[in-house]
Amino acid sequence: MAVDPLIELQDVNKHFGDLHVLQDINLTVGRGEVVVVIGPSGSGKSTLCRAINRLETIGSGTIRLDGQLLPDEGKELARLRADVGMVFQSFNLFAHRTVLQNVSLGQVKVRGRKKEEADRRSRELLDRVGVADQADKYPAQLSGGQQQRVAIARALAMEPKAMLFDEPTSALDPEMITEVLEVMKALAADGMTMIVVTHEMGFARSAANRVVFMADGRIVEDRTPDDFFTRPSSDRAKDFLSKILKH
Ligand SMILES: Nc1ncnc2c1ncn2[C@@H]1O[C@H](COP(=O)(O)OP(=O)(O)OP(=O)(O)O)[C@@H](O)[C@H]1O
Ligand SMILES: [Mg+2]
Repeated sequence: MAVDPLIELQDVNKHFGDLHVLQDINLTVGRGEVVVVIGPSGSGKSTLCRAINRLETIGSGTIRLDGQLLPDEGKELARLRADVGMVFQSFNLFAHRTVLQNVSLGQVKVRGRKKEEADRRSRELLDRVGVADQADKYPAQLSGGQQQRVAIARALAMEPKAMLFDEPTSALDPEMITEVLEVMKALAADGMTMIVVTHEMGFARSAANRVVFMADGRIVEDRTPDDFFTRPSSDRAKDFLSKILKH
Protein backbone atom coordinates (compact mmCIF):
# COMPACT_ATOMS: atom_id res chain seq x y z
CA MET A 1 0.00 0.00 0.00
CA ALA A 2 1.31 3.44 0.99
CA VAL A 3 0.45 4.99 -2.37
CA ASP A 4 -0.21 8.29 -0.64
CA PRO A 5 2.46 8.47 2.08
CA LEU A 6 1.58 10.44 5.20
CA ILE A 7 4.40 9.38 7.54
CA GLU A 8 7.77 8.53 6.03
CA LEU A 9 10.86 7.46 7.92
CA GLN A 10 14.03 7.07 5.88
CA ASP A 11 17.21 5.48 7.24
CA VAL A 12 16.45 6.68 10.75
CA ASN A 13 19.10 5.96 13.38
CA LYS A 14 19.22 6.88 17.01
CA HIS A 15 21.55 6.10 19.89
CA PHE A 16 21.14 6.41 23.62
CA GLY A 17 24.83 6.45 24.52
CA ASP A 18 26.15 3.07 23.35
CA LEU A 19 22.70 1.69 22.73
CA HIS A 20 21.70 1.76 19.07
CA VAL A 21 18.00 2.04 19.79
CA LEU A 22 16.72 2.71 16.25
CA GLN A 23 18.69 1.03 13.48
CA ASP A 24 18.16 2.00 9.85
CA ILE A 25 14.42 2.37 10.22
CA ASN A 26 12.54 2.68 6.94
CA LEU A 27 8.82 2.88 7.36
CA THR A 28 6.11 4.48 5.26
CA VAL A 29 2.56 4.78 6.49
CA GLY A 30 0.01 5.69 3.87
CA ARG A 31 -2.93 8.00 4.45
CA GLY A 32 -5.70 6.02 6.07
CA GLU A 33 -3.46 3.12 6.90
CA VAL A 34 -3.41 1.42 10.32
CA VAL A 35 -0.04 -0.01 11.32
CA VAL A 36 0.33 -2.07 14.47
CA VAL A 37 3.84 -2.16 15.95
CA ILE A 38 4.70 -5.07 18.18
CA GLY A 39 7.88 -6.49 19.63
CA PRO A 40 9.67 -7.39 22.84
CA SER A 41 10.22 -4.92 25.64
CA GLY A 42 13.11 -2.59 24.87
CA SER A 43 12.96 -3.13 21.11
CA GLY A 44 12.45 0.59 20.45
CA LYS A 45 8.68 0.85 19.86
CA SER A 46 8.11 3.84 22.16
CA THR A 47 11.26 5.55 20.92
CA LEU A 48 9.98 5.16 17.36
CA CYS A 49 6.66 6.82 18.27
CA ARG A 50 8.39 9.58 20.19
CA ALA A 51 10.75 10.25 17.29
CA ILE A 52 7.82 10.63 14.89
CA ASN A 53 6.40 13.28 17.17
CA ARG A 54 9.85 14.81 17.73
CA LEU A 55 9.65 14.13 21.45
CA GLU A 56 13.02 12.47 20.78
CA THR A 57 15.66 13.74 18.41
CA ILE A 58 17.17 11.36 15.88
CA GLY A 59 20.85 10.91 15.05
CA SER A 60 20.50 10.52 11.31
CA GLY A 61 17.89 9.96 8.64
CA THR A 62 14.72 11.85 7.85
CA ILE A 63 11.16 11.87 9.08
CA ARG A 64 8.48 13.45 6.91
CA LEU A 65 4.93 14.19 7.81
CA ASP A 66 2.64 14.78 4.86
CA GLY A 67 5.68 15.53 2.74
CA GLN A 68 7.24 17.99 5.17
CA LEU A 69 10.46 17.39 7.07
CA LEU A 70 10.03 17.66 10.82
CA PRO A 71 11.56 20.99 11.85
CA ASP A 72 13.95 21.07 14.79
CA GLU A 73 12.13 23.54 16.95
CA GLY A 74 9.91 26.60 17.11
CA LYS A 75 6.35 27.36 16.06
CA GLU A 76 6.54 25.24 12.96
CA LEU A 77 7.39 22.22 15.10
CA ALA A 78 4.49 22.94 17.48
CA ARG A 79 2.13 23.02 14.51
CA LEU A 80 3.45 19.83 12.94
CA ARG A 81 3.44 18.12 16.31
CA ALA A 82 -0.22 19.00 16.74
CA ASP A 83 -0.84 17.23 13.43
CA VAL A 84 0.04 13.96 15.12
CA GLY A 85 -2.16 13.06 18.06
CA MET A 86 -0.48 10.97 20.70
CA VAL A 87 -2.07 8.69 23.26
CA PHE A 88 0.09 7.02 25.89
CA GLN A 89 -0.30 4.21 28.35
CA SER A 90 -0.77 6.73 31.16
CA PHE A 91 -3.56 9.09 30.29
CA ASN A 92 -1.72 12.33 31.06
CA LEU A 93 -4.87 14.36 31.62
CA PHE A 94 -4.60 17.58 33.60
CA ALA A 95 -5.82 16.62 37.07
CA HIS A 96 -7.05 20.08 38.04
CA ARG A 97 -9.09 20.63 34.91
CA THR A 98 -12.47 19.18 34.09
CA VAL A 99 -12.84 16.69 31.29
CA LEU A 100 -14.29 19.40 29.04
CA GLN A 101 -11.42 21.77 29.84
CA ASN A 102 -8.91 19.02 29.12
CA VAL A 103 -10.32 18.56 25.63
CA SER A 104 -10.75 22.28 24.91
CA LEU A 105 -7.42 23.61 26.14
CA GLY A 106 -5.18 22.70 23.20
CA GLN A 107 -7.79 23.81 20.70
CA VAL A 108 -7.71 27.31 22.18
CA LYS A 109 -3.95 27.48 22.81
CA VAL A 110 -2.54 25.77 19.72
CA ARG A 111 -5.33 25.97 17.17
CA GLY A 112 -6.50 29.44 18.22
CA ARG A 113 -10.19 28.58 18.49
CA LYS A 114 -12.64 30.61 20.53
CA LYS A 115 -13.58 28.95 23.80
CA GLU A 116 -17.24 28.47 22.85
CA GLU A 117 -16.32 26.83 19.58
CA ALA A 118 -13.72 24.64 21.28
CA ASP A 119 -16.23 23.55 23.93
CA ARG A 120 -18.84 22.74 21.33
CA ARG A 121 -16.39 20.60 19.43
CA SER A 122 -15.15 18.99 22.67
CA ARG A 123 -18.68 17.92 23.56
CA GLU A 124 -19.14 16.36 20.12
CA LEU A 125 -15.93 14.41 20.53
CA LEU A 126 -16.73 13.33 24.08
CA ASP A 127 -20.02 12.06 22.72
CA ARG A 128 -18.24 10.22 19.95
CA VAL A 129 -16.01 8.35 22.44
CA GLY A 130 -18.98 7.66 24.72
CA VAL A 131 -18.24 9.91 27.70
CA ALA A 132 -20.43 12.96 26.99
CA ASP A 133 -22.01 12.66 30.43
CA GLN A 134 -18.61 13.00 32.15
CA ALA A 135 -17.77 16.44 30.73
CA ASP A 136 -17.91 18.36 33.99
CA LYS A 137 -16.08 15.82 36.14
CA TYR A 138 -12.39 15.77 36.99
CA PRO A 139 -10.16 12.99 35.62
CA ALA A 140 -9.79 11.27 39.01
CA GLN A 141 -13.57 10.77 39.10
CA LEU A 142 -13.45 8.65 35.93
CA SER A 143 -12.50 5.02 35.35
CA GLY A 144 -9.25 4.30 33.54
CA GLY A 145 -11.12 3.38 30.39
CA GLN A 146 -13.09 6.60 30.50
CA GLN A 147 -9.93 8.64 31.08
CA GLN A 148 -8.25 7.01 28.12
CA ARG A 149 -11.25 7.79 25.92
CA VAL A 150 -11.03 11.42 27.07
CA ALA A 151 -7.33 11.38 26.14
CA ILE A 152 -8.31 10.15 22.67
CA ALA A 153 -10.95 12.87 22.36
CA ARG A 154 -8.38 15.45 23.41
CA ALA A 155 -5.97 14.30 20.73
CA LEU A 156 -8.73 14.26 18.10
CA ALA A 157 -9.77 17.79 19.06
CA MET A 158 -6.60 19.08 17.39
CA GLU A 159 -7.78 17.54 14.13
CA PRO A 160 -4.61 15.54 13.69
CA LYS A 161 -3.62 14.01 10.38
CA ALA A 162 -2.46 10.89 12.17
CA MET A 163 -2.72 9.31 15.60
CA LEU A 164 0.00 7.45 17.48
CA PHE A 165 -1.00 5.11 20.27
CA ASP A 166 1.66 3.73 22.59
CA GLU A 167 0.20 0.79 24.52
CA PRO A 168 -3.05 2.66 25.18
CA THR A 169 -4.71 -0.26 26.95
CA SER A 170 -1.88 -1.85 28.89
CA ALA A 171 -2.64 0.03 32.12
CA LEU A 172 -6.34 -0.86 31.98
CA ASP A 173 -8.42 -3.56 33.60
CA PRO A 174 -9.69 -6.13 31.10
CA GLU A 175 -13.29 -4.87 31.02
CA MET A 176 -12.06 -1.40 30.10
CA ILE A 177 -9.71 -2.55 27.38
CA THR A 178 -12.59 -3.44 25.11
CA GLU A 179 -14.27 -0.03 25.31
CA VAL A 180 -11.02 1.74 24.37
CA LEU A 181 -10.29 -0.70 21.54
CA GLU A 182 -13.81 -0.17 20.19
CA VAL A 183 -13.18 3.58 19.98
CA MET A 184 -9.89 2.91 18.19
CA LYS A 185 -11.52 0.49 15.77
CA ALA A 186 -14.18 3.09 14.95
CA LEU A 187 -11.44 5.65 14.28
CA ALA A 188 -9.64 3.22 12.02
CA ALA A 189 -12.86 2.46 10.15
CA ASP A 190 -13.36 6.21 9.73
CA GLY A 191 -10.09 6.37 7.81
CA MET A 192 -7.74 7.80 10.45
CA THR A 193 -4.07 7.10 9.81
CA MET A 194 -2.80 5.27 12.88
CA ILE A 195 0.35 3.79 14.32
CA VAL A 196 -0.56 1.60 17.28
CA VAL A 197 1.91 -0.04 19.61
CA THR A 198 -0.07 -2.81 21.27
CA HIS A 199 -0.01 -6.43 22.27
CA GLU A 200 -3.73 -6.71 21.61
CA MET A 201 -3.62 -9.27 18.85
CA GLY A 202 -7.38 -9.14 18.30
CA PHE A 203 -7.08 -5.46 17.45
CA ALA A 204 -4.13 -6.12 15.15
CA ARG A 205 -6.04 -8.84 13.31
CA SER A 206 -9.27 -6.92 12.93
CA ALA A 207 -8.11 -3.32 12.43
CA ALA A 208 -4.53 -3.27 11.13
CA ASN A 209 -3.49 -3.15 7.49
CA ARG A 210 0.06 -4.07 8.47
CA VAL A 211 1.96 -5.45 11.41
CA VAL A 212 5.48 -4.16 11.98
CA PHE A 213 7.54 -6.40 14.23
CA MET A 214 10.53 -4.78 15.93
CA ALA A 215 13.41 -6.42 17.74
CA ASP A 216 16.65 -4.82 18.97
CA GLY A 217 15.92 -1.49 17.31
CA ARG A 218 15.21 -2.95 13.87
CA ILE A 219 12.11 -3.61 11.85
CA VAL A 220 12.31 -7.36 11.41
CA GLU A 221 8.97 -7.97 9.69
CA ASP A 222 6.44 -5.71 7.99
CA ARG A 223 3.49 -7.68 6.63
CA THR A 224 -0.26 -8.11 6.69
CA PRO A 225 -1.67 -9.31 10.03
CA ASP A 226 -2.81 -12.57 8.51
CA ASP A 227 0.65 -13.28 7.10
CA PHE A 228 2.39 -12.26 10.25
CA PHE A 229 0.28 -14.30 12.65
CA THR A 230 0.03 -17.42 10.55
CA ARG A 231 3.39 -17.40 8.78
CA PRO A 232 5.97 -15.33 10.69
CA SER A 233 9.24 -15.69 8.81
CA SER A 234 11.86 -14.74 11.41
CA ASP A 235 12.84 -16.76 14.45
CA ARG A 236 12.50 -13.63 16.57
CA ALA A 237 8.86 -13.20 15.59
CA LYS A 238 8.09 -16.91 15.97
CA ASP A 239 9.61 -16.88 19.43
CA PHE A 240 7.76 -13.69 20.39
CA LEU A 241 4.41 -14.97 19.13
CA SER A 242 4.76 -18.30 20.90
CA LYS A 243 5.31 -16.42 24.16
CA ILE A 244 2.45 -13.95 23.91
CA LEU A 245 -0.03 -16.47 22.51
CA LYS A 246 0.60 -18.74 25.49
CA HIS A 247 -0.82 -16.16 27.92
N1 LIG B 1 15.80 8.39 27.61
C1 LIG B 1 16.48 7.24 27.50
N2 LIG B 1 17.78 7.17 27.84
C2 LIG B 1 18.49 6.02 27.70
N3 LIG B 1 17.97 4.87 27.26
C3 LIG B 1 16.67 4.87 26.91
C4 LIG B 1 15.86 6.04 27.01
N4 LIG B 1 14.61 5.74 26.60
C5 LIG B 1 14.65 4.43 26.26
N5 LIG B 1 15.87 3.90 26.44
C6 LIG B 1 16.28 2.53 26.12
O1 LIG B 1 16.03 2.32 24.74
C7 LIG B 1 15.56 1.01 24.52
C8 LIG B 1 14.24 1.07 23.80
O2 LIG B 1 13.27 1.64 24.65
P1 LIG B 1 11.75 1.79 24.24
O3 LIG B 1 11.08 2.43 25.38
O4 LIG B 1 11.67 2.44 22.92
O5 LIG B 1 11.34 0.27 24.10
P2 LIG B 1 9.88 -0.37 23.90
O6 LIG B 1 9.95 -1.26 22.73
O7 LIG B 1 8.87 0.71 23.88
O8 LIG B 1 9.73 -1.26 25.21
P3 LIG B 1 8.41 -1.59 26.11
O9 LIG B 1 7.69 -2.71 25.39
O10 LIG B 1 8.96 -2.06 27.41
O11 LIG B 1 7.61 -0.34 26.23
C9 LIG B 1 15.49 0.34 25.89
O12 LIG B 1 16.66 -0.44 26.06
C10 LIG B 1 15.46 1.50 26.83
O13 LIG B 1 16.04 1.14 28.06
MG1 LIG C 1 7.28 1.21 25.13
